[in-house]
Amino acid sequence: MRKQIAAANWKMNLTYQQGEELLDEILSAGVKLNEHQQAIFAVPSPYLLMTRSTVEEELNYFASAQNCYNKKSGAYTGEVSAEMLNSINIKYCVLGHSERREYFIESNAMLAEKVNLCLENFVTPIFCCGEPLAIREAGTQNEFVATQLKESLFHLPAEKIKTLIIAYEPIWAIGTGKTATTEQAQEIHKYLRSVLADQYGEEVANEIPILYGGSVKANNAKELFASPDVDGGLVGGASLVAADFVEIIKALK
Ligand code: PGA
Repeated sequence: MRKQIAAANWKMNLTYQQGEELLDEILSAGVKLNEHQQAIFAVPSPYLLMTRSTVEEELNYFASAQNCYNKKSGAYTGEVSAEMLNSINIKYCVLGHSERREYFIESNAMLAEKVNLCLENFVTPIFCCGEPLAIREAGTQNEFVATQLKESLFHLPAEKIKTLIIAYEPIWAIGTGKTATTEQAQEIHKYLRSVLADQYGEEVANEIPILYGGSVKANNAKELFASPDVDGGLVGGASLVAADFVEIIKALK
């Protein structure tokens, strides 16, 4: 079975102490994961080591970065490289979140560079795609997300792309309380998988987890994750509340 993943995206929230407390509460719930299930915590950079060492005793719980830079190293004050993440044994990095695309003007081409650097450094990208409201209203969301995949990922050979995690996050659903319906999520996830299959074949496409993001909550996770092409979620707001995120982990197939 394809990996099923509950990924927390803390964004720029919580102090270090609050983060430690939240992780302790989540872990004390003692949710045991199967070999095909994972819980990933994308935390602010200063909390990466703490998070890694807190979760590493647990099977299939991991720490993730929220971003890295599109250069190998050098005079880029304030930035964090994929090599640095690897050097502290961080295995995952969120790339291309819509907030990064919008506020930090990250283009598909720049994200292709970040993807390459992560892979060169043994860091698995959690690659985000998703359309803004105007595109959804115009009905051109499929073309929009397919272009995001093509321009940032389709230079990769099959054996690399099949190691990635993709997160589909419609921008109109992020932090708005407005979730895509289960049907909308399944439809576009299925479409994304077909775009991957056209390029790389069904076998490869079937291996790639596609997470849904955008107002995933404790009370809708189970229904969303039940869809055949929805392989878990990337969760913002609800990942900051221990009881809620525990329910979301439990909702994994
Ligand atoms: P949200 O955020 O769950 O608060 O909508 C999701 C995300 O941006 O990853």
